[in-house]
Amino acid sequence: MDEHLVDGFDVGRLVPGFRPPPHPSAGLADGRALQAADQRMRHWQSPLAGPLPPGSKQHRMATCRMFHDTFNPYRPAVLDWPELDPPTRARIVSLPIWDIAVQTEGKARLRMAAYAGTLAEPDMRDALALNAWEEQRHKEVLSRMVAAYGIALAPEPQPAWPLDPEWAYLVTGYSECIDSFFAFGLFELARRSGLFPQALVDTFEPVMQEECRHILLFANWAAWHRARLSFWRRLRFEARVAAVWAYLAWERIGLARTVDAGGAAREQDNNFTLSGAQSVQDKDIRLPDLLALCLSENERRFAGYDARLQRPTTVPRLTRLALRLLRPFARRGKPPG
Ligand SMILES: [Fe+2]
Ligand SMILES: [Fe+2]
Repeated sequence: MDEHLVDGFDVGRLVPGFRPPPHPSAGLADGRALQAADQRMRHWQSPLAGPLPPGSKQHRMATCRMFHDTFNPYRPAVLDWPELDPPTRARIVSLPIWDIAVQTEGKARLRMAAYAGTLAEPDMRDALALNAWEEQRHKEVLSRMVAAYGIALAPEPQPAWPLDPEWAYLVTGYSECIDSFFAFGLFELARRSGLFPQALVDTFEPVMQEECRHILLFANWAAWHRARLSFWRRLRFEARVAAVWAYLAWERIGLARTVDAGGAAREQDNNFTLSGAQSVQDKDIRLPDLLALCLSENERRFAGYDARLQRPTTVPRLTRLALRLLRPFARRGKPPG
């Protein structure tokens, strides 16, 4: 029985052939074994020699093996939720992210499992199913944290089974590419601020690195998938990808509204990744500094993985462009001398 079935969601029933990872051995409770698993999840080199051209069998094998070899068997049930002093607890409870975070993980696990179930290629199907399983585990981590600190959640709408699994997977994958990029920077900002207990930062660190693995898998799935399409199907796929970016941009510039349980329209918390810097530290941070931090954290988190694998490139490229455009303003804002 998979112990992570907090609410009955079972990837194994949705994706043919998928077996949840085995329950970690008791030895994992020992600090050294945990540390070794943590190191393994951050560093990976393919034993295959030579290039890994997107779409090739070698590329597919390296992508899927990376995802399995870097799996971290931590168990949410044994995670430590440190005692918080009242101001810290109040700060955490008031972060406007908990509803959307829990719901996003719920949507991600469903959409990833739905798309994985449509794949005929068994290695890629299994890797995407494991990703769905890890989203399920993220949901469990969040649910346990929310319960430990008494965070009140809005009733969670049940996400619908996607009618178009490829579209839903693309939306989820590119959303993760955007959100993870900014979350890396915000997480580091929170860590440096000292406003959150080190034990809590440590608990979420593997979850952050897992999101890095997820977008690494997504970037390589996308490269593998598009390289195998015929000209016309590729054209259709690129049009879909452009439509997904347009949809996500529309969602993130705040046009999307949601209706809460009381029936009142409220802004979605999707923009937290862009506007939440003030909530995780007590000093002002200038936008160029925040963007530069996101960029360097993104590079640091990806640095341990085989350089022949593809990386998500759109958000880092746009950020570099934004930093170039912001440079004159940054200079003007500096004190003389
Ligand atoms: Fe997640
Ligand atoms: Fe993820």
